[in-house]
Amino acid sequence: MQDAPSDRDALQTLLDFHVEAGVDLALDETPHNRFAEPKAERPPAKAAAQTSAPKAPPPSAPSPRALPKAAAGAPEEVASMAREQARHAQSLEELEAILAGFDGCALKFSAKNLAFADGNPEGRVMLVGEAPGADEDRIGKPFMGRSGQLLDRMLATIGLDRSQVYVANIVPWRPPGNRTPTPQEVAICKPFIARQIELASPEFLLCLGGPAAQNLLGIKDGILRTRGRWFTYKTEDGREVRALPTLHPAYLLRQPLQKRLGWRDFQALRRALDGRE
Ligand code: URA
Repeated sequence: MQDAPSDRDALQTLLDFHVEAGVDLALDETPHNRFAEPKAERPPAKAAAQTSAPKAPPPSAPSPRALPKAAAGAPEEVASMAREQARHAQSLEELEAILAGFDGCALKFSAKNLAFADGNPEGRVMLVGEAPGADEDRIGKPFMGRSGQLLDRMLATIGLDRSQVYVANIVPWRPPGNRTPTPQEVAICKPFIARQIELASPEFLLCLGGPAAQNLLGIKDGILRTRGRWFTYKTEDGREVRALPTLHPAYLLRQPLQKRLGWRDFQALRRALDGRE
């Protein structure tokens, strides 16, 4: 390995290179050349393990810092544990505290922060996205980056801002490298967002993007088919919330021509707020 550069600019360039290459999580302070590690460090084969005492790693071998692990268990068991814990929350503050102490989702251990919510839980509208990105992870709140800025501009077109709406995500921890959350991660986190909606009790639910719409409303169709149509979201305690799927702001940043569709959906929300739809 080459020596790391010592001056600030060179270090910044190296860091930028890694970020652009998709490396955004440090697992250890120093790199390890796994190919050069002695064979003895690999776990012994099962049969050998039964007959001979395990070898201690050589003293020179670096010991990588292990990331804490998520609570063990089949995803369905962990999801039912999540349901149990979420049900106990009697307020959004309690729910956030329970979620912060919940070790069942591995994303918690690679994320910097829990991005539970932003905005006003008393608002008539709740918006739900998919999962936090890098900015949200750093700040610990949903929709803080470029998508969030576009979202704020769209809200402003219908006379709303974050003091009037409540914002959350299906998954409250950032998946490493902004990958899509796995179905297991979604299943584990879903009881928490369901309880969050129940406790916030909005009049209107805006599902931002296909994953939010599909997971919350149980619809199979893609977002381009479902956006702009009103659905009913049912809370576990039997309340019905009018729900509108719309295009995710991150998609609109990539496909600016589709902003007109997003704009139409926000107009529909405005009409519904005014009792005109
Ligand atoms: N995308 C999301 O779905 N949620 C965020 O909080 C940010 C980007």
